[in-house]
Amino acid sequence: ALRKAIIAGNWKMNKNRKEAAELINALKPIAADKTCGVIICVPFTNLETALSLTEGTNIEVGAENVHFEKSGAFTGEISADMLTEMGVKYVIVGHSERRQYFGETDETVNKRTTAAIEAGMTVILCVGETLAERELGITEEVVAKQVKVALHGLTADQVKNIVIAYEPVWAIGTGKTATAEQAEEVCAFIRATVASLYDQAIANGMTIQYGGSMNEKNCAELLAKENIDGGLIGGASLVAEKFGVLLAEA
Ligand code: G3H
Repeated sequence: ALRKAIIAGNWKMNKNRKEAAELINALKPIAADKTCGVIICVPFTNLETALSLTEGTNIEVGAENVHFEKSGAFTGEISADMLTEMGVKYVIVGHSERRQYFGETDETVNKRTTAAIEAGMTVILCVGETLAERELGITEEVVAKQVKVALHGLTADQVKNIVIAYEPVWAIGTGKTATAEQAEEVCAFIRATVASLYDQAIANGMTIQYGGSMNEKNCAELLAKENIDGGLIGGASLVAEKFGVLLAEA
């Protein structure tokens, strides 16, 4: 990659507080001498533990979702202000699991992204095609629409606080990684899309990650690609030694 890489872990619905503390304590010395950006996105119930254990370290903490309203009758939801008040600076928006299982649409992704950005957070915005869409040959169309709608209404200055994670749905948790060439092709396409929406400088400065069964074994090839600036890591972020290899390679 040409840019400084960011490796973000997405713990998904894993780890109770005790397990979270164990993982973070194991991760701290491993992450300490690494030059890439390091973020762990953890369940809401682990945010406080993660923030306190990572204080003064190079590990940043993120949430896995955020609601678009500031407060109100939205049972079960968490606002951007609630997160920033705790000291959480990062949040994943539009993960394919939220799109698949929780009715997330490009429009709600745009609302959540906007709310988080307006609260001063950095958003890891997830996009990616399903297997059916790839087989139909509409990957670029799908990803372009996801990017355009998600960023709708955001200024060039605001987009500087967006990281895009390209996660082909068929590669998530399946052990089936996109080839480095496939991943590079779509990441380059996403960068070109951002350039067409804003300008080339904004696009060149943007961190674009790959995600989908990226692990300690296949990361080197993916991270060597010009347009892949790191990864959003699920399974391999739950084991300190594995995550450590990703940090070392980035
Ligand atoms: O957000 C992370 C991705 O969904 C990738 O998950 O590394 O377990 O395939 P995975």
